[in-house]
Amino acid sequence: MDVLLLATLIGSGLLLPTAYAGIIGAPWAPTRIAVVKKAFDAVGISEKDVLVDLGCGDGKIMHEAAKRGAKTIGYELSPIMWCIAWMRTMRDKKTQVHYGNFFKLPIPPDTTYIFAFLMPKHMQKIREYIAKQPVQDATIIFSYAFPMQDVPPRMIFRAKKCAPLYMYTVKDIR
Ligand SMILES: C[S@@+](CC[C@H](N)C(=O)[O-])C[C@H]1O[C@@H](n2cnc3c(N)ncnc32)[C@H](O)[C@@H]1O
Repeated sequence: MDVLLLATLIGSGLLLPTAYAGIIGAPWAPTRIAVVKKAFDAVGISEKDVLVDLGCGDGKIMHEAAKRGAKTIGYELSPIMWCIAWMRTMRDKKTQVHYGNFFKLPIPPDTTYIFAFLMPKHMQKIREYIAKQPVQDATIIFSYAFPMQDVPPRMIFRAKKCAPLYMYTVKDIR
């Protein structure tokens, strides 16, 4: 096979799903970790918890929860970001990084925390997706930078140079 054709196919295989994730959820952008640390300390994430990151990007959020002993599950549609997340979390215990579109994947019933940093225009769709998952009403949702429309957050965490981190429970959005 022509080298140029091969390079184009590999490039498209990596870039097309990455672009698609940017359209249906959000392109990759890092969450500033200081506000996440503050929130995780405040709620007391521990080894009893399961955190799911919807669009786990570089795996930083999962790693922060894993440091506190939690089981972590990340879903990621960009093969490039999936690879980075996998490498970042490979030494964390109880961690899974799944490749795929989270809208087509289930959130496990024992999930205690859901994390999202996704575009505001998709919030309603994300809300409907989470609401129909078999998780407990008490499961906590963190949304970085963008709030849910018409749902007052239970808490808003703030830290220097970070966007706000909004906290809800699944009951609030059902
Ligand atoms: C703004 S970044 C947030 C990354 C990480 N959660 C954090 O807070 O640092 C959004 C990530 O979600 C991924 N993404 C967007 N839509 C997705 C979908 N439907 N399924 C899986 N991943 C998705 C993107 O590829 C990107 O890496």
